[in-house]
Amino acid sequence: MRDRHVVVFSGAGISAESGLNTFRGPGGLWEGEPVSLVATPEGWRKDPERVLRFYNERRKAVRAATPNLAQVALGELEQIFKVTIITQNIDDLHERGGSTNVIHLHGEIMKSRSSRDPTTLFACEGDIVLGQKADDGSQMRPHVVWFGESVPMMDTAIAVAKTADFLIVVGTSLEVYPAASLVDYVPYEATRFLVDPMPSGLTDEDFHIVEAKASEGVPRIANQLRALMA
Ligand code: OAD
Repeated sequence: MRDRHVVVFSGAGISAESGLNTFRGPGGLWEGEPVSLVATPEGWRKDPERVLRFYNERRKAVRAATPNLAQVALGELEQIFKVTIITQNIDDLHERGGSTNVIHLHGEIMKSRSSRDPTTLFACEGDIVLGQKADDGSQMRPHVVWFGESVPMMDTAIAVAKTADFLIVVGTSLEVYPAASLVDYVPYEATRFLVDPMPSGLTDEDFHIVEAKASEGVPRIANQLRALMA
């Protein structure tokens, strides 16, 4: 059945049970750090040290985290289906959970790049510090997409979304565009699931809403899909 394509669209909520903060809501990352100061080109120009500190902390947290049951269940689904993960997350928990086909719309915290050239990437395990220069002489920065920057992987993700037989949306508030528009590209016939303990903002009645945490809801859907194919 590896010709049936499961497309997963994930957000911060899928990593919450691995100990990584979501962005919105009480206790979210954007409550502690104003987005405009740490996740925009303007913030970077104004106070690069603050931006580096913010993402160095994210990298440390990601390194300390381990994949949870949701990410592992998606990794295991590759035994039966073609699976593509499209994630807004910058962590590598999908990969460490066993997924081999992951598109990162908003970049990857375990990679760095020069400020000038978004295409040449470097593995990055430790902190990036002010004064650390790339070969082109510009300051190194994390490989993350900031508000106001383009989302280079969007076209690839749209092409993938168009080939979905099943869509699992998990752990995202669907508030950030263009990423959130992906759900509109999924074929009409595809079966759609949404996993979120506090689903909001989705008016599409064609979704099966699974009001649960990712570690419970995603394995449940994976079992349903398995049963469907048995
Ligand atoms: P948000 O913080 O906006 O939304 C997280 C979603 O996860 C919410 O709907 C929560 O209800 C849900 N959630 C919380 N705990 C969960 C759990 N255990 N299992 C499942 N769901 C859970 O995060 P995103 O939608 O990912 O972009 O945010 C999108 C983008 O906004 C991010 O990629 C980032 C941010 O600003 C950039 O930095 C460019």
